[in-house]
Amino acid sequence: MSVFLNGSFVAPEQARISVDDRGFVFGDGVYEVIRVRDGRLFEGEAHFARLADGVAALALAPKGDPIAPLRGLPGIADELLARNELTRGEATIYIQITRGAAPRTHAFPAPPPPPTIYAAARVFTPPAELRARGAAAITRPDIRWARCDIKSVNLLPNVLAKQHAAEHGALEAIFVRDGALTDGASTSVFAVIDGELRTPPLTNYILPGITRRVVLELAASRGIPARERPIFADELSAAAELFITGTTTDVMPICTLDGAPVGEGTPGPVARQLQQALEARIAGAPAP
Ligand code: PDD
Repeated sequence: MSVFLNGSFVAPEQARISVDDRGFVFGDGVYEVIRVRDGRLFEGEAHFARLADGVAALALAPKGDPIAPLRGLPGIADELLARNELTRGEATIYIQITRGAAPRTHAFPAPPPPPTIYAAARVFTPPAELRARGAAAITRPDIRWARCDIKSVNLLPNVLAKQHAAEHGALEAIFVRDGALTDGASTSVFAVIDGELRTPPLTNYILPGITRRVVLELAASRGIPARERPIFADELSAAAELFITGTTTDVMPICTLDGAPVGEGTPGPVARQLQQALEARIAGAPAP
């Protein structure tokens, strides 16, 4: 197996990152997870664009060359898939860019060190059975920061929420801020309320999920009425459906929330239809 680190393809045991790396010391970096089917990156351009937004938001690139850390990444992703024999079937690509290694000071080090650029390809097994059956979720207070739109490697609130979910037999924790749903710990959230598909509008408190955007497009092309409008936690008792979306989650129906059934307590027709439509899109097949 080989991974990419700072310009070289090496065995994971050979990949070494400094103890002074600001990703390690401060969580000073951004990441992406990209879905791969039969060697093709699903929505690769959108993932690279979001990574570029994160690099710009955190000023991770050297001055005067804002795309330096991103240069060549699509080719590196392809090379990782080829070297790891992942050009058939399901895989994911993980990419992380940090501000690099420098003695610990909170402010950006001067002169700036070269960013650390890491990428790896892994085999992926979609959670097919759970997707067919539907999953459980819990709600948690959204204790994340005010720039959740940046895909930062600072994931401690997400880690703690996901652990709380796991300890309560749930797949996902859905964050609630000021009474409204924001994100799942690693997913976007949708509900069907009064016959309308809804997902929270994008703000600084929400990651602009790529699967979220694709699902909104798929709903529009199928004539499913959909709106980007807040979903309040106290509306969920009236929700016919609830589902989460994400790169490794696809469309996952949520059948119980905080232990109570959602709608009929089984995957609903809107989630099912969008699940199939998304699968076709990932497979690159004509839409059903
Ligand atoms: N998580 N919201 C949050 C907080 C996320 O971390 C993610 C992705 C999403 C869904 O975004 P997308 O559809 O672009 O994957 C929403 C990734 C997969 C992870 O951390 O593993």
